[in-house]
Amino acid sequence: MDIAMQVAPTDLSVLITGESGTGKEVFPQIIHQLSSKKHGPYIAVNCGAIPEGTIDSELFGHEKGSFTGAHEARKGYFEVANGGTIFLDEVAEMPIATQARLLRVLESGEFIKVGSSKVLKTNVRVIAATNVNILQAIEKGKFREDLYYRLNTVPIVIPPLRERKQDIFLMFRKFAADFAAKYRMPVIKLNAEAEALLTNYYWHGNVRQLKNITEQISVIEKSRDINAETLLKYLPQQTSSLPMVVKGDGSTSEFSERDILYKVLFDMKKDLTDLKKIVVDLIENDNGLNQDFQPENEQIIKKLYQDVGTPETTIRLGYGGGNTTVKPKITSVSEDIQDHEIVVEQQPLSLQELEVDMIKKALAKHKGKRKSAARELGISERTLYRKINEYKLDL
Ligand SMILES: Nc1ncnc2c1ncn2[C@@H]1O[C@H](COP(=O)(O)OP(=O)(O)OP(=O)(O)O)[C@@H](O)[C@H]1O
Ligand SMILES: [Mg+2]
Repeated sequence: MDIAMQVAPTDLSVLITGESGTGKEVFPQIIHQLSSKKHGPYIAVNCGAIPEGTIDSELFGHEKGSFTGAHEARKGYFEVANGGTIFLDEVAEMPIATQARLLRVLESGEFIKVGSSKVLKTNVRVIAATNVNILQAIEKGKFREDLYYRLNTVPIVIPPLRERKQDIFLMFRKFAADFAAKYRMPVIKLNAEAEALLTNYYWHGNVRQLKNITEQISVIEKSRDINAETLLKYLPQQTSSLPMVVKGDGSTSEFSERDILYKVLFDMKKDLTDLKKIVVDLIENDNGLNQDFQPENEQIIKKLYQDVGTPETTIRLGYGGGNTTVKPKITSVSEDIQDHEIVVEQQPLSLQELEVDMIKKALAKHKGKRKSAARELGISERTLYRKINEYKLDL
């Protein structure tokens, strides 16, 4: 806020970064309101939502007949916003060719409409925002380095909500008051334990999530006095399958991520051990797995027996006749399966691969409906749209 207020009266470009839902769309409005251009127009453009083919024309305008369907000449946002502020949201999504045009406007105030050769001038304050790591985008050749330095004259990094805990209860009260007025109901109130729970929650979706949850509780709960138990119903578990661990002396609730992770890992290990035990049982009793094993399964079966504690030498694999099938004959299997150390060999998945995987699954589950998929993933529809483009998932 301090940086925003200091930079507002200057005409410098500002680049706002921060996680999804932190309030990147709020700051440009504050800067505009406190700037010398406050009486001029304020135009917010979501670069991630404009198709690549039309973005130049949207931003810089076009001449009549410059492309099929251009029946009339059209002013672009940079011309319309003359004397005001233009907010380029999701700027990392801007195509490289458009980035070159933007750089020119930033450096000289000059631009050329699509299909024209006439150089026009505009006096616009540019504020940009992104929740993408632009330095990575530069490395991948998706973002011009010179444009980054030009836009980033003054960087504003909005910290995630969990790193500004003092804001959480304050914002909750503000939202609660707003929703009470909107729905004409008394304001909801948290007791001390619920307040501690709210303050120590992780808030993956940041302010957006806090606002949504405050609205849900305001609308759904009959009692206006909200305790921790009630609040907990509205706080999603941190990731889809993570159990929630609540610690503390009763007056405060505290989440330890390490505890949660340990619990998940132990649960996973136990599940895996149980699963392997079942498979071993099935193989031993020839039960349900009565069919012949393919040779490629031999390695898997050997590994399985190693994992559950049977020395490989005790497994005798006999090849059936001249054909290619393998039938395992097991002479002994360790009883002590539960306590055996299991090493799960798995290709390490990068966060990005996990993300792609989750998005694909959510889209498949909701039959391509982005709204429902985004809700399931706990991200905004726009963020999902951007990620689909980024990972080229829109096949
Ligand atoms: N300081 C704030 N005061 C009041 N409301 C806020 C504040 N910060 C954010 N919000 C609200 O939180 C919601 C999310 O904010 P915003 O749309 O600016 O997020 P964002 O950072 O642009 O997220 P994304 O990267 O997903 O687009 C909005 O409804 C916004 O009004
Ligand atoms: Mg946004």
